Amino acid sequence: MTDIKQVRLPSGEMVPALGQGTWKMGESPKRRADEVKALRLGLDLGMTLIDTAEMYADGGSEEMVGEAIAGRRDEVFLVSKVWPGNASGQGTTAACERSLKRLRTDRLDLYLLHWPSRHPIADTVRAFEELKAAGKIRHWGVSNFDVAEMDDVLDVGGKAVAANQVLYNLTRRGIEFDLLPWQKSHGTPIMAYSPVEQGRLAHHPQLQRIAVAHKATPAQIALAFTLLRDDVITIPKATAEAHVRENRAAADIVLSGADIAALDAAFPPPKRKGELEMI
Ligand SMILES: NC(=O)c1ccc[n+]([C@@H]2O[C@H](COP(=O)([O-])OP(=O)(O)OC[C@H]3O[C@@H](n4cnc5c(N)ncnc54)[C@H](OP(=O)(O)O)[C@@H]3O)[C@@H](O)[C@H]2O)c1
Repeated sequence: MTDIKQVRLPSGEMVPALGQGTWKMGESPKRRADEVKALRLGLDLGMTLIDTAEMYADGGSEEMVGEAIAGRRDEVFLVSKVWPGNASGQGTTAACERSLKRLRTDRLDLYLLHWPSRHPIADTVRAFEELKAAGKIRHWGVSNFDVAEMDDVLDVGGKAVAANQVLYNLTRRGIEFDLLPWQKSHGTPIMAYSPVEQGRLAHHPQLQRIAVAHKATPAQIALAFTLLRDDVITIPKATAEAHVRENRAAADIVLSGADIAALDAAFPPPKRKGELEMI
């Protein structure tokens, strides 16, 4: 097993390119023990970036993550998100305090605006900067922002924007047209969400042939694709132990030029600008 490669944040800090998502976790008390176990196994295997949000299970995901990282906080690069309806100046600050409590921690490593909000981005960014100055968050960023919205973030003095979390996988390659180049030119990484297309790529027939050649699974090839670039952090969600182990092993897969050509043929890259897709 090789080390998981790292991605550089604009601050120079390095974070693992492969982390763990937690949407749909923390919803059921029956599944909680398995979810906590899965996240802890992921930490053991080096997937130390954990992504959650106040929206997930209405705070239940953050509470479950709090349990999973108890006693291990310093190993984790912890990401959470403010719900856009809460993203006024004061609302952002209050939402962050609630998230910290549920997560049983004194700081977030990265705090994201979950998607563009009706509140002025300048107010949200000001609150982010105040939270940063107070030591409650270490970095801030956005999610589901397209190029024009990223320009708006820069306009309000948001050069510190540390990441943009967007939908990215083999069947959702639209961002390769202009958002990924924008992010690259500004030195701001993308966090790829739903990298296995919520499980659908795990059964994709066109990934099967490449997977067999690597003694891997289609889901692993889908993840390996998102790990090709040096400015993408990918955050699959997995509760099944086998999935957690597979996902970690995907970081060791080296796709060949022929594999990449086959993937491009099966899942063509975009030729024109489209709407930023969201799930
Ligand atoms: N910012 C946003 O707006 C936004 C939106 C969506 C998602 N996200 C974040 O991104 C994370 C990942 O996205 P996602 O949860 O939507 O979808 P995903 O990670 O693409 O897929 C998760 C699903 O795939 C299954 N799976 C995981 N690894 C697998 C493997 N190796 N083989 C077969 N199946 C596998 C999981 O099953 P099991 O759980 O049963 O193992 C689960 O059903 C979320 O959890 C969340 O943290 C952010």
